[in-house]
Amino acid sequence: MLNVPSQSFPGPSSQQRVSSGGRSKVPLKQGRSLMDWIRLTKSGKDLTGLKGRLIEVTEEELKKHNKKDDCWICIRGFVYNVSPYMEYHPGGEEELMSAAGSDGTDLFDQVHRWVNYESMLKECLVGRMAVKPAFPKDYHEEKRLLNGMLPKSQVTDPLAKEGPSSPSYDWFQTDALVTIVIYTKQKDIYLDSVIADHRDDSFRAETVIKDYSYLIHIALSHEIQEDFSVRVVENVGKIEIVLKKKENTSWKCLGHPLENHNSLIPKKDTGLYYRKCQLISKEDVTHDTKLFCLMLPPSTHLQVPTGLHVYFKLTITGTEIVKPYTPISDSLFSEFKEPVLPNNKYIYFLIKIYPAGLFTPELDHLQIGDYVSVSNPEGNFKISQFQDLEDLFLLAAGTGFTPMVKVLSYALTHIPSLRKVKLMFFNKTEDDIIWRNQLEKLAFKDKSTYF
Ligand SMILES: Cc1cc2nc3c(=O)[nH]c(=O)nc-3n(C[C@H](O)[C@H](O)[C@H](O)COP(=O)(O)OP(=O)(O)OC[C@H]3O[C@@H](n4cnc5c(N)ncnc54)[C@H](O)[C@@H]3O)c2cc1C
Ligand code: HEM
Repeated sequence: MLNVPSQSFPGPSSQQRVSSGGRSKVPLKQGRSLMDWIRLTKSGKDLTGLKGRLIEVTEEELKKHNKKDDCWICIRGFVYNVSPYMEYHPGGEEELMSAAGSDGTDLFDQVHRWVNYESMLKECLVGRMAVKPAFPKDYHEEKRLLNGMLPKSQVTDPLAKEGPSSPSYDWFQTDALVTIVIYTKQKDIYLDSVIADHRDDSFRAETVIKDYSYLIHIALSHEIQEDFSVRVVENVGKIEIVLKKKENTSWKCLGHPLENHNSLIPKKDTGLYYRKCQLISKEDVTHDTKLFCLMLPPSTHLQVPTGLHVYFKLTITGTEIVKPYTPISDSLFSEFKEPVLPNNKYIYFLIKIYPAGLFTPELDHLQIGDYVSVSNPEGNFKISQFQDLEDLFLLAAGTGFTPMVKVLSYALTHIPSLRKVKLMFFNKTEDDIIWRNQLEKLAFKDKSTYF
């Protein structure tokens, strides 16, 4: 019998689906591409009508600017004149108008919180809202030294009270090490639930718990070595992050809390966090698709869960552009041999280069050793829904094949009940089929697999 999982792929509100439910990209007029927009923003034209002056905007003032040719929108406390952008907006003028003269932050985040509006609209900045958005109430109260006591964690959003119970943390030290222990009080916490970065003197660890993130964000009181390790005791949901001291001195406190430290906040409110990854290699896979290998910095712990994607960020002619890509394993076979090493620092991507595209030609021009910013994982897909599958049918087209690589690998190694896997892979021509040989070998080797 066909065993259909209750949640389909991609998840109901994942980016792959944004177009469903009546929302879709609209065809833009000739000369209204993103590159054309970037050119307009660099042309020196006064796009706000304020000749470069920044003003404080009251709510009453904002409300007045609600027409297509005079449209202001507030996002995260900053007000933009989006009228010049109307014709360039891939979601269409009507969508943009739904936030006209008001605070569009929630609407914007619902549709595409990854879009780098600050950079794209910097020439459209009118100013700040006169009333600054309030800081989390307890933030200032906790601006004292973290003295090693277990502080009560902050829940910055009232909605979070309906979410998972709030985690807590503690820390202890030996001569050489400082260990931060996070008690999530959850069972389904894995190594890929924790994303940690050490940058300058600050340390940030984000633990994903369902649709929430628990943040440890500290300006450390002493210097540490670049690399650190993360361990998870899965059955009790305990996370241990072991930092290596630079000097063998005793720490009196862990450090000072930074924004959202010790808070459980809805994941959509955390903002996308990026780190620079180095291009290690680039190989042709088909006539237009390449396998990119990126290396995470030693000061980052990040594993992308199956079915999720990350965002790449590059500055193209002075504007930060963000595009999503789905990590894969380096070959269809490597993951079948052994699980990915927990401290794996390499991430692989299959990326089609569009000669007339905006982002991929820039990516293709990167030299080995160059850097690209890579975000935390995003998406709602949960591989656990595949647990008791008997038959798995996968449909992919073009580079839409990329999420299938890890899904296939997981299915063939982790689902004992699985009887049959069928991949239907749609391509324009035979030459476009990514990893055709590997797929054929796999189908030949594994009799439960069809391609
Ligand atoms: C969740 C997710 C995961 C993804 N994962 C991957 C992945 O793993 N690998 C991968 O290769 N891609 C992936 N993508 C697609 C990727 O994000 C980019 O869309 C893709 O790389 C194209 O980027 P670009 O800027 O180079 O091209 P674009 O500038 O977007 O152009 C692409 C093509 O469309 C044409 N075009 C652009 N604008 C118009 C217009 N207005 N009218 C008509 N034609 C137009 C261009 O000429 C070009 O041929 C993913 C997308 C999503 C949503
Ligand atoms: C606040 C009101 C807004 C709404 C309701 C809205 C809505 C939408 C919708 C529905 C799409 C199409 C998504 C898809 O089908 O893939 C879209 C795409 C897009 N919007 Fe907006 N938008 C808003 C504001 C903005 C602003 C202020 C910017 C400024 C830069 C912006 C930039 C973009 C970009 C770059 C895309 C293309 C994303 C992609 O490539 O997938 N939008 N928007």
